[in-house]
Amino acid sequence: MQKLIIEGKKELRGKIFISGSKNASLPILAASILCNQASLQNVPLVKDIFTMIELLEYIGLKIKISEKKNILKIYNNDKNIKTLAPYKLVKTMRAGVLVLGSLLTKYGKAKVSLPGGCAIGTRPVDLHLFALKKLGANIKIKNGYIIAEAKKGLKGTTINFPSISVGATENALLAAYNAKGKTIIKNCAIEPEIKDLILFLNKLGANIKISGRTITIFESENKNYKIDHDIMFDRIETGSFIIASALIGKKIIIDRINPKIIKTEINILKKIGVKIKIKKTSVTILKSKNLKPMKILTKPYPGFPTDLQAQLMVLLTQANGVSKIKEAIFENRFMHVPELNRMGANIETKNNIAIIKGPTKLMGAEVMATDLRASVSLVLAGLTAENRTIINRIYHLDRGYEFLETKLKSCRAVIKRV
Ligand code: EPZ
Repeated sequence: MQKLIIEGKKELRGKIFISGSKNASLPILAASILCNQASLQNVPLVKDIFTMIELLEYIGLKIKISEKKNILKIYNNDKNIKTLAPYKLVKTMRAGVLVLGSLLTKYGKAKVSLPGGCAIGTRPVDLHLFALKKLGANIKIKNGYIIAEAKKGLKGTTINFPSISVGATENALLAAYNAKGKTIIKNCAIEPEIKDLILFLNKLGANIKISGRTITIFESENKNYKIDHDIMFDRIETGSFIIASALIGKKIIIDRINPKIIKTEINILKKIGVKIKIKKTSVTILKSKNLKPMKILTKPYPGFPTDLQAQLMVLLTQANGVSKIKEAIFENRFMHVPELNRMGANIETKNNIAIIKGPTKLMGAEVMATDLRASVSLVLAGLTAENRTIINRIYHLDRGYEFLETKLKSCRAVIKRV
């Protein structure tokens, strides 16, 4: 198994180009089942994307990857389509469950493995199934699979989500694409990645409007089956590099982003004392000292994202005082804490609240990655710590960060993969 070796305390300076968003690409790849031909630009070629490509090819789509240009060309001639998403592909990449909505709305049936839980939580899909049943699907669970049918097609309706879910909102949107009549979905997640999916579906001839947390899908005839789409930037990768720059940067430009989309994160980081200069498509982070402690609650967009919680925690280990983070989205997303404490941090957790006492001097250590975002928090700690940090099980990192060490090395970090 590969590991990362980091020599800490090397001041970063230079420019980082942000990749396309993994969490926009995955639902858009699931939506590409609805096309005959789609060309996707700025796709991050990370492990989860390759797993989703494998799933789409298993279903019967043809996919051409041009790695150098991060372009995927996807073809669906509707021949030999398997409306099945097998356990072996869904268990490692839970977003595979998103093909459920597309298969159901286009082919009237789907058999999709229940994704099962992961390190950060049980990750149920009851809200996904709730929405599909509302649209008239007949759903059975058998031998660990979701068996969905809609022989007479799906019928538009009003869906009122009892709680906010990104994936369930995406599956409902995908299923509503061919539903007869109008569908109104209330209490939706409205992450930027969902807006990118809506852009993609509207290019496919859907007529989707979003207002507040309500999304309306009007019935539309003029479906278009050949489209191009440029995937939005990865706002979580951006936040991760802004925090790295605040921890150990002298001057870092983070380019190819839309700072308006990460307003909440930028405002919170500025309050902590991070020096951020904002331009139209980039931010510049200057050396930040005298960091202030902060109280943070993770929330659905536009609140502070749970996917940046671990990274922010590393920054707060360097703040002058006691900070508090409440993880309100997932039930077990503090697995980076014991590893950070082994590096010298002073963090106590009680249920879903972490108390971080700073500033603490971080020392290099051998540590273990446990999930995607916890892994990158260990990289941030390693860059900040004295001496050498060795991070094991970095396959977690490779699921969602494209060229991480290359991007850091280009800013003078001393980091290598072995
Ligand atoms: C998406 O996961 C992201 N993944 C996650 O990013 C992100 O952390 C999460 O949204 C929250 O922003 C992708 O987009 C591929 P949810 P998702 O449904 O859709 C509960 C990363 O690091 N829930 O919004 O699975 C659920 O257990 C990943 O890139 C139900 O109870 O998240 C959680 O507590 C990690 N029933 C909460 O809702 C359901 O049917 C939010 O989950 C669905 C979810």
